[in-house]
Amino acid sequence: MKENNQLNGDCALPQKEGKRWARTTVTSALPYANGGVHIGHLAGVYVPADIYVRYLRLKGEDVMFVGGSDEHGVPVTQRARKEGITPQQVVDRYHKMIKDSFEEFGISFDVYSRTTSKTHHQFASDFFRKLYDDGKLIEKTTKQFYDEQTGTFKTDRDIVGECPHCHAEANGDQCEKCGRDLDPTELINPRSKESGAQLVLKDTTNWFLPLNEYEGWLKQWILEGHKEWRSNVYGQCKSWLDMELQPRAMTRDLDWGIPVPVEGAEGKVLYVWFDAPIGYISNTKELCESNPERWGTWQRWWQQDDTRLVHFIGKDNIVFHCIIFPVMMKAHGDYIMPDNVPANEFLNLEGDKISTSRNWAVWLHEYLVDFPGKQDVLRYALTASAPETKDNDFTWAEFQARNNNELVAIYGNFVNRALQLTQKYYEGVVPACGELTDYDRETIAEFKDVKAKVESLLDNFRFRDAQKEAMNLARIGNKYLADSEPWKVIKTDPERVKTIINISLQLTANLAIAFEPFLPFSSKKLYGMLNVEPLGWENLGSTELLKAGHQLAKPELLFEKIEDDAIKAQMDRLERIKKENEAANYKAEPVKKEVTFDDFEKLDIRVGTILSCEKVKKSNKLLKFEIADGLENRTILSGIAQYYNPEELVGKQVCFIANFPTRKMMGLESQGMILSAVNFDGSLSVITPQREVKPGSQVG
Ligand code: MF3
Ligand code: ZN
Repeated sequence: MKENNQLNGDCALPQKEGKRWARTTVTSALPYANGGVHIGHLAGVYVPADIYVRYLRLKGEDVMFVGGSDEHGVPVTQRARKEGITPQQVVDRYHKMIKDSFEEFGISFDVYSRTTSKTHHQFASDFFRKLYDDGKLIEKTTKQFYDEQTGTFKTDRDIVGECPHCHAEANGDQCEKCGRDLDPTELINPRSKESGAQLVLKDTTNWFLPLNEYEGWLKQWILEGHKEWRSNVYGQCKSWLDMELQPRAMTRDLDWGIPVPVEGAEGKVLYVWFDAPIGYISNTKELCESNPERWGTWQRWWQQDDTRLVHFIGKDNIVFHCIIFPVMMKAHGDYIMPDNVPANEFLNLEGDKISTSRNWAVWLHEYLVDFPGKQDVLRYALTASAPETKDNDFTWAEFQARNNNELVAIYGNFVNRALQLTQKYYEGVVPACGELTDYDRETIAEFKDVKAKVESLLDNFRFRDAQKEAMNLARIGNKYLADSEPWKVIKTDPERVKTIINISLQLTANLAIAFEPFLPFSSKKLYGMLNVEPLGWENLGSTELLKAGHQLAKPELLFEKIEDDAIKAQMDRLERIKKENEAANYKAEPVKKEVTFDDFEKLDIRVGTILSCEKVKKSNKLLKFEIADGLENRTILSGIAQYYNPEELVGKQVCFIANFPTRKMMGLESQGMILSAVNFDGSLSVITPQREVKPGSQVG
């Protein structure tokens, strides 16, 4: 290794505008190990990061892709408590699940480790200790809520109490009823969510990072130095920097996390947002130590000025990656700063915010059960509707259309036609290219353009548009075949067909290259059908990828149509989840205005036995009942046809109001009203006496 492994300061390479970077460190947000991975994670962070690193690798750049699980923090402890297991058991389970999902979807991390690793604990602890020793932290004593029963301090989200505004039961950070942000000290009668115990305020000492002292530097570095950042990222940074930054606590009174390495700090751990981003560095260290030949030292990737650092994250992580983590690194010294932070906005699912707690998500492990082998289809659909500049919506209908109308009908169709025609006319052997026509030259010129276009888009983190350009290559191919009509020309000018097929096959090989960062599984398959090794990015645009006489493998379909049934099954699942959520959130209506007993007594409610029941013609709501009422029997119409088959009610007893005036509906008379309970979702259930009684019995 001839790399310069020294820390900067000594041997730092000068950083000039337009200088070529020697290597790139790419990180993607470490997901919390308290749940699985869903399409929002994939679309927002991991697919774009993976496209980017695959692209850099294909170009022969030196790149490291760092990932891992974020295993500390309150959400992990809450989950553990809910399930009655330890936090370690929670993170062990989800770390494995998350890691497996990423592997299955081809997210090509060079390292995927975890923040409970020994390396990380040591690294984060040392990092903190250096800041502490160098006097970069300030010690502050504040009052925090304390549970005397369990002997623990409570974080905002572990506190409940009465909202001072609307008097509903609210969490320490927010009232869900009236939507107001709260400080837990505002709550009336604050209690512990865990034990229900009354909380008291107690002094506690923590260490704070004085973000305010770095304001000038941050403004210079971001607002002046990085105007090229995505406008959503730049804008969020600007609004933070326009407010006055406050010192921020880097330690917490908690028992799950990395112990604060300071005497007298027993029972305190590093704030999860302090330790997690350091995880990027400690995971790098772990990789470097496992293979120093390949990677050199971790300092190369984090402390050398010719290293480019790029963070892929979702928009909720912007402040941590653009302000807090950079200030941590700046305070520590020696570190490079991120060159770009291409944060995405959020992906919604069928019009609603994705939510783990409401199970409103498409989980990767579940997707693969329903769509085995279709990793690339999801990658494609998610990139096509990636929330790059604004929130976007994932719908199953669009997913199906992207597959059927684009992957199958454009990409797959072109490849299949080119390969099948080669089989048919030349037994799968690449024919020689003859003289080119003007039209051939035009087509070739068009697809030579694609490389520069895709590159410039990817260099600017515009993954949607870059993928569109790759698809455009297949469009060019389809048009070329349709215009050239080899299936007709074969009868009149077989020599010409050789050229058409040769060009089509070169184009096919180009598609395998162009799509490789986006759809790695499909490119692999296509290379297999072409019977070649991966062709290398530098060859994109070439017309000499497949030599005349080269034998292709047997063609297979690259993509398959997704039928309506499969989509309907997904919609039904979401419908079911929606119902379950509505039921779980059902709140009874407030009680109506008071009435007197006299008011009640005026109503004559009775029990009747259903003698017959039938649908009312031309109405999809009404059922017509013949009811034995102990007198002369009566006919009642009731709007419950959606909820009952007429037969299932015959012989049952129901309650009805006997002294309503006769009403006419659909030309029929109704003598009273059958009573039903209205369920949370509006569905109706008739009221039946719990033991059979004589028809005509009064209810009171
Ligand atoms: N776990 C955090 C989240 O899911 C992300 C952590 S990113 C890191 O929002 F930089 F802290 F690692
Ligand atoms: Zn409230």
